[in-house]
Amino acid sequence: MKILSICGSPRKGNSETLVLFIQSFLKEKGIENEVILLRKRNVGHCKGCVEYCNKNLECQQKDDMVEIMEKMEAADGFVFVSPNYFGMPPGIFKNFMDRCSVFFTANKQNEFSKKKAIVMCVGADEPKYIDRCTNNVVHFCETLGMKVVGKKSIRSKSELQNDYNYVLETPHNKGLKEEIEDLVNSHLTALS
Ligand SMILES: Cc1cc2nc3c(=O)[nH]c(=O)nc-3n(C[C@H](O)[C@H](O)[C@H](O)COP(=O)(O)O)c2cc1C
Repeated sequence: MKILSICGSPRKGNSETLVLFIQSFLKEKGIENEVILLRKRNVGHCKGCVEYCNKNLECQQKDDMVEIMEKMEAADGFVFVSPNYFGMPPGIFKNFMDRCSVFFTANKQNEFSKKKAIVMCVGADEPKYIDRCTNNVVHFCETLGMKVVGKKSIRSKSELQNDYNYVLETPHNKGLKEEIEDLVNSHLTALS
């Protein structure tokens, strides 16, 4: 089983902490998990040239998205973690999502229906105000055909401390580590 995690933050922040926490948990369980930090990748924005991608079933841009899309096709499951910016993911994650539209154009929904996904979004506000962002990412996953098996909106601090692990350590997120482990264990990596 191969899990691919995509982190949509432009900084080394709370989203990255969550993604790396899940990676170490999966490693303990002997499950292959590659993490893609979009902040370290070159992913251009979709230019909307649907005439080209509808005809050729590929994107004209040959940047890091070529490799990322290959990895997505090979994965059995996904972890998507994104910050909440005004109820939406930030630009770098939106660019990634828009570029995935080639999967939709190429009718990959059937293939993607075998792939499970967990979505988490993190913001400074209460979780109920982050849900809009989380639901936007869930909508992206479902449009591509993925089976979303878990979603969670998480509250953290905007400003990072010296130790960027604040999101997992703060008192109002008591039990979050166990909750995430349970989500991954009982849904993402469960065989059925
Ligand atoms: C441009 C911008 C807009 C933001 N908008 C919101 C918002 O609407 N609601 C919210 O809860 N947090 C908002 N935040 C705070 C971030 O969601 C928060 O800092 C989060 O921890 C970022 O994730 P990261 O640490 O993984 O980068 C915003 C931050 C930035 C930079």
